[in-house]
Amino acid sequence: MFELTLDKKHDESRQGEAFAPKHIVNNPFTKKFYIESYGCAMNFADSEVVASILQEKGFGITPQFEEADMIFINTCSIREKAEATVRRRLTEFRKMKKDNPGLLVGVLGCMAERLKSKFLEEEKLVDIVVGPDAYRSLPALIDEAESGQKGVNVLLSREETYGDISPIRLNSNGVTAFVSIMRGCNNMCSFCVVPFTRGRERSRDADSVIKECTDLFNDGYREVTLLGQNVDSYQWVSSADNSVVSFANLLEKVAQISPLLRVRFSTSHPKDITDEVLFTMRKYDNICKYIHLPVQSGSTRILQMMNRTYTREWYISKVNRIREILPGCGLSTDSITGFCGETEEDHKETLSLFEYCEYDLAYMYFYSERPGTLAERRFKDDVPLEVKKRRLQEIVDLHRVHSLKSMQKDVGKIFKVLIEGDSKKSDQQWAGRSDHNKMTVFPKTGNYKKGDYVDVFVESCTAGTLIGKIKEDQLTW
Ligand code: SAM
Ligand code: SF4
Ligand code: F3S
Repeated sequence: MFELTLDKKHDESRQGEAFAPKHIVNNPFTKKFYIESYGCAMNFADSEVVASILQEKGFGITPQFEEADMIFINTCSIREKAEATVRRRLTEFRKMKKDNPGLLVGVLGCMAERLKSKFLEEEKLVDIVVGPDAYRSLPALIDEAESGQKGVNVLLSREETYGDISPIRLNSNGVTAFVSIMRGCNNMCSFCVVPFTRGRERSRDADSVIKECTDLFNDGYREVTLLGQNVDSYQWVSSADNSVVSFANLLEKVAQISPLLRVRFSTSHPKDITDEVLFTMRKYDNICKYIHLPVQSGSTRILQMMNRTYTREWYISKVNRIREILPGCGLSTDSITGFCGETEEDHKETLSLFEYCEYDLAYMYFYSERPGTLAERRFKDDVPLEVKKRRLQEIVDLHRVHSLKSMQKDVGKIFKVLIEGDSKKSDQQWAGRSDHNKMTVFPKTGNYKKGDYVDVFVESCTAGTLIGKIKEDQLTW
């Protein structure tokens, strides 16, 4: 209830999505698997790698768990609530297994990594436990599980990027796709479990990223989102000529694939985002002018305890720089209320920072202590739950004012929108996002189709959506 997000396009809205690409729903494979995903976009992208690995070995995917021989649940550990959701879901699958003992249940992803073989003791009917760097071993683990053994592989790797695997696009609109450019994280923010579940940071071969994006474009996709926990620290050294590819270089290479391919990325870290990245964004019309810049707290004291390695002033200077180099750029953030030792004064600093930044979007959470993290070991989780929730609500209320203002200021303007499909409410309306990442809906006038760009004149808005009509005389193409 209190883990609020105002943007339904964000990964949180897709929690528990089951996948199957339409063309292989009625597949000829003898054994079928079902996969359900939780957590961040990287986890959803990983499920596409898993599907590719399993299909390569002759297993077929199904969108209905009732007809599956294997059920996989790709899990998230970021907050206690995320883990509780997965456990509830596992209870349902366990019941099915009682009626169908041949059914295999596998736990993938961050929760598998965090709990390792303890999972098998806690959840006795789980047959397979696989961490994020061990998906290549899944077929062998399935063999083991079929022979009555438990299949476990939670080894983390310093090299694995799955760069050579072509992900099978799951539940895809055929227009937008995620592309992982790196894995892991070296930052060790004290509240965060990701460095423990995903291991050391490593960047993916730039050539394989370009190839994947080019293939997507040739298959009709028109938008790629480059994914990493901290994209600004992307670095790849080419073995051919020892040249170094930075994130700005990679962004440029992807943007050059075609002016018709939109490029987005997430997540930027305030300590690492560079002017070079901002100038590259400015240079290319097809790099979307939208940056997700998680702040976490507006108090320098709390930021230090969080080990974020920047101050409030540093963060504000980055926001100013973004607005100077990229006027009108969309800006979003993540925040945590009630971190260890947070006082009312600290909380007011977060409120005032939100006031200063006036974010277009924000993903706001209250602190959830995670076992094994630096914060759990060093600090006391001493802010009472009701205080955490009250502070969160105050941030949410303030942000709501800003996000509505941000929507209202776009009324009367024209935006280039990439058509992603029918709007949720009506098949008489298209839905797509503007360059600055606002969901936009408009009637299906003219002969446009999914994947086309259109100029949309915005006539009104709700808190989360711009409502408009296609401009008859198109301006930009
Ligand atoms: N790498 C990104 C970054 O540096 O911000 C995002 C990491 S995490 C997947 C997404 C968000 O979850 C974080 O930005 C943070 O706001 C939130 N989060 C992480 N750990 C949390 C915790 N223990 N309690 C509450 N929220 C948490
Ligand atoms: Fe977690 Fe910090 Fe890494 Fe983001 S940058 S994944 S918050 S440790
Ligand atoms: Fe969750 Fe793991 Fe992503 S903990 S947020 S699925 S990296």
